[in-house]
Amino acid sequence: MKKIITFGTYDLLHIGHVRILQRAAELGDRLIVGVSCSELNRSKKGRAPVYTTEDRMAILSALSCVDEVFVERSLEAKGDYIKQFDADVLVMGDDWEGRFDEFKSICSVVYLPRTTGISTSKLIADISDINPTPESHLTD
Ligand code: CTP
Repeated sequence: MKKIITFGTYDLLHIGHVRILQRAAELGDRLIVGVSCSELNRSKKGRAPVYTTEDRMAILSALSCVDEVFVERSLEAKGDYIKQFDADVLVMGDDWEGRFDEFKSICSVVYLPRTTGISTSKLIADISDINPTPESHLTD
């Protein structure tokens, strides 16, 4: 049983999230996802997620490639989480390339390429730019 662990906020789930989770799952038998709690996201990205931690976890749990989710409460605890879940491989997006090499002593560390052109931050910006016209509710 080869266990894969990965981490992230996964707010406003988008195709980049789905692709990296599918590719991570293909590396082993069981995919475990640490979902950054809202407080951690606030300190990491300077804003609260749109969705609650519970909803982000529920949405990820509904994906067939995800076997288990848990709350990531501290960025410093990655090594503890890897040991707690007995993970064989840590997967991170290549925006973190090299930053988690310290964990190579306890598991394999794989950086997967990000999907280009999409991110939660970009989605929020794009949605904020949408300026509905008064009659927009009449069309779909
Ligand atoms: N990810 C990806 N491709 C993207 C966006 C994210 O592969 N286009 C990956 C990240 O590398 C990470 C995981 O999805 O491994 C969760 O990333 P997260 O930070 O939650 O998503 P972002 O869209 O990058 O969020 P933000 O814009 O708020 O930074």
